[in-house]
Amino acid sequence: MSLFSLTQEIAIDLGTANTIIIVDGKIVVDEPSVVAIRKADDKLIAVGKRASVMRDRGEGKIYTVRPLQKGVIADYKACEMMIRGLIDLIPHRRRFLNPVIKMVVCVPSGATPAEIRTINDSCMQAGARELYLIYEPMAAALGMGFDIEGPNGCMVVDIGGGTTEIAVMSLGSIVVNKSIPIAGDALNQDIVRYMDKSHGMRISEPTAERIKKQVGSALMELENPPEDMMVIGPNKTTDLPLKVPVSYQEISHCLEKNISSIENAILQAFGETPSELYADIVQNGIWLTGGGALLHGLAQRLSNKMTIDFHVAEDPLHSVVKGTGIALKNINNFSFLLKGG
Ligand SMILES: Nc1ncnc2c1ncn2[C@@H]1O[C@H](COP(=O)(O)OP(=O)(O)OP(=O)(O)O)[C@@H](O)[C@H]1O
Ligand SMILES: [Mg+2]
Repeated sequence: MSLFSLTQEIAIDLGTANTIIIVDGKIVVDEPSVVAIRKADDKLIAVGKRASVMRDRGEGKIYTVRPLQKGVIADYKACEMMIRGLIDLIPHRRRFLNPVIKMVVCVPSGATPAEIRTINDSCMQAGARELYLIYEPMAAALGMGFDIEGPNGCMVVDIGGGTTEIAVMSLGSIVVNKSIPIAGDALNQDIVRYMDKSHGMRISEPTAERIKKQVGSALMELENPPEDMMVIGPNKTTDLPLKVPVSYQEISHCLEKNISSIENAILQAFGETPSELYADIVQNGIWLTGGGALLHGLAQRLSNKMTIDFHVAEDPLHSVVKGTGIALKNINNFSFLLKGG
């Protein structure tokens, strides 16, 4: 934003797990999608990491909300507060000039028209004056450097917190689209259940997420296996402390059902790909993005299963926001953007 400009242009990836904002091509906000609200008067107390810490510690006078579930807004009021709060975290924001906000926000390709309207309204309520929407897989592909307006087919699998979105794109549109509500959150829940059932240990979701990142695996045999992780938590019946080593093999076993659902959805989407794009995809491989793409062994497992190369995006947690930032710079050129407002 130049010194006298009264328009601030921002791109937002409004995710189930993380919300990221780009201004002038740079990531300026990258925070978990959480708000902390005071119980007494429903006032916003904190957003992002600060709210997340309060969530983990279970502070008494506040409650925390993750406003998005499965990629769409589950709590409208909290979502609006979160967007406002995160925009306020943009460094050097000249609030006193009260700039007009021009915004591009991404929406899940599997969202219904009503869900898209809710995202639209929430951004408008949070202060957007001019708004454009972009489908997440298109943003992801742009962010990975693909020319999605060209004739070549490209296939992207975005495994986020709430949803896995699979899309084949060509000539500036989504040709095949599949979205399933199985992604990072579902894997965390698998681990919570597993620790309870197999180790008799009660763990929180943040602990399950740490286990997933450290020793989560999509394969029972990894070439470079991570070391066992020591997990400390209460015995579910006695509340006395338990300390157990957790191996990647056991976590791979407990994630198997959901990983295989993701695999089947990718196979199905690939099966629906028109023959003229099929060869492009076989040649270029399928691109994995979203935080779930970082799961140990996932790309390898899918490559083995489908005999097509799977590549992990260079910066999977940021492909969507980077692409949303590119869309912001090309509002007048990209005919696939949806006009909001
Ligand atoms: N190293 C890792 N291994 C496995 N999963 C990971 C890793 N790092 C992050 N994740 C998971 O990625 C998910 C977050 O990814 P991302 O930020 O792409 O989601 P999101 O965009 O907020 O969600 P959605 O797109 O579904 O709305 C979380 O579930 C997180 O646990
Ligand atoms: Mg996402």
